Amino acid sequence: MSKILILDFGGQYKELIARRIRNMGVDAFVVPCNTPIQDILAQKPDGLIFSGGPHSVYSSVSPRADEKIFSCGLPILGICYGQQYIAHALGGEVSRCIISEYGKTLTVVKPRNPLFKGLAKNQFMLMSHSDGVTKLPEGFEIVAHTANCKIAAMANLEKNIYAVQFHPEVTRSKKGEKILKNFVFGICKAVAKPRQIKTVDDFILDIKNQIGDGKCILGVGGGLTSAVCANLIYKAIGDRLTCVFVDHGMLRANEKEEIEEIYARLPYNFKSVDAKDRFAKALKGVFDAETKRKIIGREFFAVFEEEANEIGADFLSQGTVYSNVIESGAENSANIKSHHNVGGVPKDNRFKGIIEPLKALFKDEVATLAKHLGVPEFFLSRQPFPGPGLGIRIMGEVTADKLEILRKADNIFSEEVEKMPQKKRPTQYFAVITGMRSVGAMGDGRVYDYVIALRAVNTTDFMTAVHAPFSAKTLGKICDRIVNEVVGACRVVYDITDKPPATIEWE
Ligand code: XMP
Repeated sequence: MSKILILDFGGQYKELIARRIRNMGVDAFVVPCNTPIQDILAQKPDGLIFSGGPHSVYSSVSPRADEKIFSCGLPILGICYGQQYIAHALGGEVSRCIISEYGKTLTVVKPRNPLFKGLAKNQFMLMSHSDGVTKLPEGFEIVAHTANCKIAAMANLEKNIYAVQFHPEVTRSKKGEKILKNFVFGICKAVAKPRQIKTVDDFILDIKNQIGDGKCILGVGGGLTSAVCANLIYKAIGDRLTCVFVDHGMLRANEKEEIEEIYARLPYNFKSVDAKDRFAKALKGVFDAETKRKIIGREFFAVFEEEANEIGADFLSQGTVYSNVIESGAENSANIKSHHNVGGVPKDNRFKGIIEPLKALFKDEVATLAKHLGVPEFFLSRQPFPGPGLGIRIMGEVTADKLEILRKADNIFSEEVEKMPQKKRPTQYFAVITGMRSVGAMGDGRVYDYVIALRAVNTTDFMTAVHAPFSAKTLGKICDRIVNEVVGACRVVYDITDKPPATIEWE
């Protein structure tokens, strides 16, 4: 079967590149960027892709590939840092851009180049960089440019080396998939085979093999991923599974009751733990976003350990998905934010194993699996809600006052969005209480209250997202309700930043 290897230079999107290629019916694997050339060749790939990465090529710790890679004869496509690395390694120049580019950018491509075959000249591509190639290496030509980036893509046809500054792997680069296809099929001459999908039986067998005849507790937060885990693990080990729901005091309005009610209707052992005081105590006086995330992760884990001791469970399962792992800084990537279920697991813990059946899947793949498993509609139509809950939607210290204000504002926002037809609703929407206070005039008096931010995005894989285009009328109505109905909030702003450069959550 044809195969493309993705050399990992630490970028957030390396697995996304692999996934896009696998979806085309071609094997794709991520390998460390410094894999020796003989090991690369031993895998008989049809082509190589150099991923992006957070480093600058001039940094002393910047990741590099085996220098013989450029003479191994395989077609190469460099993406973002990958392009800069190729330029730097082959004698070109890379410098800090005068104007960094983040977001969808008009890119003029040369359709006569095999990489851009079949594309119109003007394309919108996702850029996310502050370094760029400023001088071509010998034998290369410019094959795309943007207003601020002269060398948005370069190619050396003779050596079969191509490189792009933008990200063709993300859905926001509309014709990105076509570019990857041009590389995989047109340039590497790979041949597609139907995709082998992991079956439900495979998942169940893997879980059985890991847990054996042990007992397992699963942290459930009311979201889709933990519901899918519960379904699979129950199928594998039945009553030896106990689902544990932790009320950390940072849940949305009515959330605890709804979750307890739905789990009561399911066949699994279920326990709800009131840990509100413990989390409040641990977070008192903590303002920094990463510290808050780490504390929340630590407390979650401590609660799970206590519950496991009581039940006699020796395995802990979590609904970790791939983007959690990547954004928590695993495998060379930059630490964007420590997801509660990744950052909180100490190396030496009491468990014989951590079971994370969905760790290799993206959220939309989990949704497809959920439908296949017949997971209740409640979970499918539910808003994704992060484990740390409102704790990461409150800027600065988490206090009882802020929690109350945020719950009310968030509830109003949800009520208004849910009046829209299902199809028009954004993928994820929520309110944030900014740490900022602002002056307002209410009645005849002066108030000095919190600024609420509204966040709503459309996304499929949650690795990239676009803000939802609400009308001014809709936003106006939501704003009126919040300032009128929520004591403590006197101003509302709407966040129109896409991901990247922003993340979906504010912390
Ligand atoms: P970001 O903010 O990373 O969010 O762009 C991407 C998606 O992940 C959710 N999210 C989390 N989910 N634990 C979770 O279970 C976390 O620590 C966490 N942080 C972010 C976020 O709500 C969005 O759906």
